[in-house]
Amino acid sequence: MLLQLHALTLTLAWIPTALAQWLQYPPSGTATMTHYTLPDNYIAACGCTADSTHYPTAAMSQAAFGSSIAYGPACGRCFNLTLLNTYTPTPPFFPTVASSVVVKVTDLCPGGGTGLCSATPGHPNSGEQYINFDLAWPSSSISPNFFPSNVSLYGYSDFGVWNVSYEIVSCVDDWAGGHNAAALGSINQTYGVCCPANPNSTDLCPSYSDDSNAQPPDTVTSSAISSFSGFSYTIVTLYLLVRGTLSL
Ligand SMILES: *[C@@H]1O[C@H](CO)[C@@H](O)[C@H](O)[C@H]1NC(C)=O
Ligand SMILES: *[C@@H]1O[C@H](CO)[C@@H](O)[C@H](O)[C@H]1NC(C)=O
Ligand SMILES: *[C@@H]1O[C@H](CO)[C@@H](O)[C@H](O)[C@H]1NC(C)=O
Ligand SMILES: *[C@@H]1O[C@H](CO)[C@@H](O)[C@H](O)[C@H]1NC(C)=O
Ligand SMILES: *[C@@H]1O[C@H](CO)[C@@H](O)[C@H](O)[C@H]1NC(C)=O
Repeated sequence: MLLQLHALTLTLAWIPTALAQWLQYPPSGTATMTHYTLPDNYIAACGCTADSTHYPTAAMSQAAFGSSIAYGPACGRCFNLTLLNTYTPTPPFFPTVASSVVVKVTDLCPGGGTGLCSATPGHPNSGEQYINFDLAWPSSSISPNFFPSNVSLYGYSDFGVWNVSYEIVSCVDDWAGGHNAAALGSINQTYGVCCPANPNSTDLCPSYSDDSNAQPPDTVTSSAISSFSGFSYTIVTLYLLVRGTLSL
């Protein structure tokens, strides 16, 4: 009896800790933004279709993404991101024209360490923000000149980290791929994929790492022909390789 009670106490004590690792964030605010290389047609952590890569996509930092592997509540969500200013150079760079892009979250930016994706509730990243968006860029869908620069002043064009404003927007109305069925939803695979076309309170992915047995909403797109079996391990490995080459 005593043992059982003890076990119950331990269990109850663990639950809030497990849930507290995910971030509740407002529908609009500021964040950091970086960029990473995502191969064309790659199936990233959420299992969104290959065609999603033909439009602007981003990986979201782990605590905001809501899972440490495969899919989480952020999968499929669309955000309008606007560049505000840079971090690294002195003096900081404030672009004269505000560049914006509407992205769909298709990938996880792993936390841990001191990277910009390592913020947790109560502990912001090194840019003093709780969210990092890692934009898949270069991308056939985004201008190569998307990131403003002033090479004559700084001597280089890629600032690496930006302070941005973000706002949750409608994927259907505002995302460039919002009317292309092949770019919406997930690949046809029986496990480990969840990518709502336009997430809402009911069409929302659970956290795969909290409960891999929870049935996610069926987001399979009949337009997506290929299935994929390597899912998140491949992308996480690739991700870490790419990330390792960046000096953030
Ligand atoms: C670059 O910076 C210099 C020095 O502040 C400024 O004179 C010039 O107009 C800037 N060019 C661009 C394209 O912002
Ligand atoms: C990011 O932008 C916001 C809004 O303009 C500003 O309040 C904040 O100080 C900026 N953060 C940094 C580190 O530049
Ligand atoms: C994105 O934000 C920019 C800057 O606030 C704004 O001009 C643009 O209309 C927004 N786009 C959408 C689709 O909300
Ligand atoms: C959420 O989205 C699904 C799929 O598009 C739709 O069927 C459902 O009515 C929506 N629910 C709410 C509460 O908006
Ligand atoms: C997914 O694949 C299964 C098995 O191949 C097939 O029966 C099903 O119709 C497919 N679903 C869609 C939406 O294409």
